[in-house]
Amino acid sequence: MSTELAVIPDPVTAAQRYAHVIGWGMHVPEKIVTNDDIAKLVDTSDEWIQARTGIRQRHVAAENESTVTFAVAAARKALAKANISPADVDLIIVGTASPEHIFPSTACLVQDALGAKNAGAYDLLAACTSFIYALSQAANAIKSNEVDTVLVIGAEALSKITDWSDRGTCILFGDGAGAFVMQARSEPGGFINSILRSDGSGGPSLMVPAGGTGMPASTATVMDNQHFIKMNGREVFRFATRVMASACQDAAERAGITIDDIDIFVPHQANKRIIESATKKLKVPEEKMVVTIQDYGNTSSASIPIAICEAIEKGQIKQNDTLMLVAFGGGLTWGAGVLQWDVPPPPPLTRIQETRRSIFYRYARIKSVFRRILRRMEARIFGDGAK
Ligand code: COA
Repeated sequence: MSTELAVIPDPVTAAQRYAHVIGWGMHVPEKIVTNDDIAKLVDTSDEWIQARTGIRQRHVAAENESTVTFAVAAARKALAKANISPADVDLIIVGTASPEHIFPSTACLVQDALGAKNAGAYDLLAACTSFIYALSQAANAIKSNEVDTVLVIGAEALSKITDWSDRGTCILFGDGAGAFVMQARSEPGGFINSILRSDGSGGPSLMVPAGGTGMPASTATVMDNQHFIKMNGREVFRFATRVMASACQDAAERAGITIDDIDIFVPHQANKRIIESATKKLKVPEEKMVVTIQDYGNTSSASIPIAICEAIEKGQIKQNDTLMLVAFGGGLTWGAGVLQWDVPPPPPLTRIQETRRSIFYRYARIKSVFRRILRRMEARIFGDGAK
């Protein structure tokens, strides 16, 4: 099944490896929550939210949806775009601040749902900077000849850890996922470089206090809403406006280019005013900035890949554009990366290819159920295997 779907890349020598994005996809839940809907829950207004954040609406998970369901949906689209079989993926990295569980990792659940039987899988938590951290790790794993194909996903179901009675946070966040397939190629380009930064002294300004080992879950933590996002908005705002422009300048310098060489900036979508401040500091025209916050709110790790998918769809990102991705978030973390968008748009899948793909996913699900049953049978037959 895997060889039928696989695209065999050009032979790549260990000395010349570049990490190109060859597939991309996004997914957001159907349910939309408008600012007027939020004004029914807390003391706020559509006018205030739009003026202070630029957000008009956000997509929010239904009860039966979660980070994994969004990650899998986005990953399937990215794999279809790249015409790559899940069996050909060597590594899955999921950037998320709202993982399905503490463990198993969201990435392992995605691996199982996709039937990516040859992939290693792990989560990466750098809050809203996770996608840039993950791209950096994926690109370095490819360039060092450790892997050929990596699925990089940013996925969030932040609505599940949002306190819907806190107007300081519930107006901001949204749910969704975006995914890239990155693959080794011998042609120069792709993900060029990144700069990754952190400052843990600012951790308390944006956090989920309970549920980890520092403050384990208890009746008291639940009663006190300690499992929800807590934020000092003003502090985060000041930090964000301080680091966005300098991160872009540092990443450009490291890539041996200038800010003027960048065709399109894709900033983390946290607040339109933060993006406007970075635009001014960098002295770049507004049309070079991708802004999608009005439709999705802040989707944390998913915001950059969602913004890229939207910008490609609208023709704002074109082949051979040089992109600057920049983000900041809890940790505190921040970072920027230079990406050459140089792979030609792949042709859409044929009907037969699509059918094969859906059979593959159904088959993967059956195999997963079968493996779970086998495990249970083993336990019944052998009991405590350690003895
Ligand atoms: N609706 C109406 N009024 C609100 C409000 C809301 N949702 N939230 C706060 N206010 C009020 C405040 O009580 C305050 O009133 P006061 O002047 O009478 O005291 C006033 O609006 C201004 O509050 P302030 O907190 O200074 O607003 P702000 O302009 O900083 O906007 C945020 C608040 C949260 C939108 C903004 O600080 C922000 O976006 N910060 C960055 C957050 C972020 O990006 N987080 C994610 C990082 S990845």
